[in-house]
Amino acid sequence: MKLDVLLGLQWGDEGKGKIVDVLAPGYDVVARFQGGPNAGHTLEFDGIKHVLHQIPSGIFRAKTKNVIGNGVVLDPIVFKSEIEKLQKYNLDVKSNLYISKKATLIIPTHRLLDQAQEKAKGVNKIGSTLKGIGPSYQDKIGRQGLRVGDVLAENFKMKLHKLVDLHLEILKHHDIVFNWTELESQFLEAVAFLKQFKLIDSEYFLNHELKAGASILAEGAQGSLLDIDFGSYPFVTSSNTVTAGACTGLGVAPCHIGEVFGIFKAYSTRVGSGPFPTELLNEEGEAMRKEGKEFGSTTGRPRRCGWIDLPSLKYSIMINGVTQLLMMKADVLSIFPAIKICTQYKLSNGTVTDQVPYEQINENITPIYVEVKGWSCSLKGLVEAELPKELQNYVEFLERSLEVPISLISTGPDRSETIHRLKQPA
Ligand code: IMP
Repeated sequence: MKLDVLLGLQWGDEGKGKIVDVLAPGYDVVARFQGGPNAGHTLEFDGIKHVLHQIPSGIFRAKTKNVIGNGVVLDPIVFKSEIEKLQKYNLDVKSNLYISKKATLIIPTHRLLDQAQEKAKGVNKIGSTLKGIGPSYQDKIGRQGLRVGDVLAENFKMKLHKLVDLHLEILKHHDIVFNWTELESQFLEAVAFLKQFKLIDSEYFLNHELKAGASILAEGAQGSLLDIDFGSYPFVTSSNTVTAGACTGLGVAPCHIGEVFGIFKAYSTRVGSGPFPTELLNEEGEAMRKEGKEFGSTTGRPRRCGWIDLPSLKYSIMINGVTQLLMMKADVLSIFPAIKICTQYKLSNGTVTDQVPYEQINENITPIYVEVKGWSCSLKGLVEAELPKELQNYVEFLERSLEVPISLISTGPDRSETIHRLKQPA
């Protein structure tokens, strides 16, 4: 009886989609536990490139059951469009996808409220994806949200109107242009579409699966440094992106957690506002963005790029209880003759620390770097034994510092460009 968790240790976009897809054959069930259409999980295989937003990344594997858990905020309009985009692959989505009745609905006014809130923040804006994530979680916590199970109720439209009226009252004070009648008919059409799927009590489903001996992979979205509690607040997303979030977002007890796979890029990226101590605001950052194709898969925004940051990775490993590390995009660093690793921070009062300070927002953090020689060669088609010595040194340096083994190195976007360094857990 085990549930393994896979999550990002940085600010999202670590490559979770690829890894879930690679690991999915070893699991009976893949379950999303938080976030919503702000996520963009990219999968590449057999010349196909596909981005998933709300649907778990096990959907391309015929034998895998996929669950959208109660901790997710689900936008029926985005859901309909995602399912339509999957049609060309002839997948049996209706059989393999299960949606928690307790997942919170994103309604169109949540997206409008997201816009209004960002606009009102002025220069302090979060850089939200504007998918309605914050406002829908606000309604959930404020105990006035709508849930997926509500779409089955006869009085769903009445419930919807009650919530919309509250939102319209707020929107009256903001300069946001919209046509509610159009938005409502689009939403109701998407809700009717959603009703054809398996809307279930997913906590019972998952616990029955575990009891029957099934293995479950919980697929995190965003990254630990965007966690509502542990991220660089307020520049965070609105959910618990860490391991504990898998328990509350799926209804599975902590005693069932097995491996915790922590994914990180061989460097760092961030979209949106907020502190980023190792950010490169120079041509090296530009080169990293270009080589790594660092543009948001949900919004298309250019990602901020910088060197790897060990204090923040150590923090994420601690909070999540990571048991295995997976290093992504090693190939991108091939362009640099020398590579920097941030091992400590120097704070404005002169303190040197390897801890993430509470005052991240106003603190002027100077990263302290160790510089190592780059490998300066292509990693295409290489197996573990053929990896250049400099890359092996880089990996070993990180393992020593982070005190967790790196069990997988990704050397390109395709499923096949993956090096497994240790035996995968049974
Ligand atoms: P929101 O979750 O859309 O409100 O965005 C809050 C912050 O999290 C912004 O800085 C976003 O850029 C960031 N964010 C949200 N989702 C993702 C993601 O999937 N990858 C990377 N950053 C994200």
